[in-house]
Amino acid sequence: MPSDIIVAIDGYSGCGKSSTAKATAQALDYTYIDSGAMYRAVTLYLLQHQITISDTEAVIQSLPDIHIHFSAKKETLSPVYETYLNRENVEQAIRDMEVSANVSEVSAIPEVRKAMVHLQRNMGKDKRVVMDGRDIGTNVFPQAELKIFMTADLMARAHRRKKELEAKGSSATLEEIAANLAERDRIDTSRSENPLVKADDAVVIDTTHLQFDEQVHQVVALAQKAMNVN
Ligand code: DC
Repeated sequence: MPSDIIVAIDGYSGCGKSSTAKATAQALDYTYIDSGAMYRAVTLYLLQHQITISDTEAVIQSLPDIHIHFSAKKETLSPVYETYLNRENVEQAIRDMEVSANVSEVSAIPEVRKAMVHLQRNMGKDKRVVMDGRDIGTNVFPQAELKIFMTADLMARAHRRKKELEAKGSSATLEEIAANLAERDRIDTSRSENPLVKADDAVVIDTTHLQFDEQVHQVVALAQKAMNVN
């Protein structure tokens, strides 16, 4: 009988973590949790309420007013979770370039991280989750049975992100997207609180030359192996 596990997927912005994590969760019949969506929802709230992000005190004071939850989309066969901020569906709004441009600064605030990590640990308390982010294998679930660290060349990531954004009607240029990814990498890897680093026991997957199906296949195979070992 395979055991229930936690799959933690960390890595740089835009290397396919979310789509890989989603497909892996579907294949395993696990719940996918997008931890980045939570930091994005906090950022959206701050922008909507004109709270200056560099004013850390004001950000901390607003945290009790920010309620985030995920709810399954009704019309889909297998559950696809969407992000809600104070009961409003913000799944689209949190993907805007303005949110992307500010989210790394928000997620570097220790009190913001503390609140999000608390929610994330709660969501994974019964295992059977695939969670993607930056500090899942190192900080949120250091005991995760499977840890993946995803990476890819910056320009390969920028091209993929451009396609995704274009499909949503965004006209951001390749240069803007690459600059945003590079800046997020810089902040995410250099912040003092739980920066993006590879966990010692994480498996590295470089997706630069991988097809999407191949990367999902690799993660699912590793998860199945971990289920039978643990
Ligand atoms: O995965 P994403 O690009 O949607 O994440 C948005 C930002 O949130 C990312 O730039 C860094 C931050 N983040 C984080 O600090 N820790 C996580 N576990 C997930 C995301």
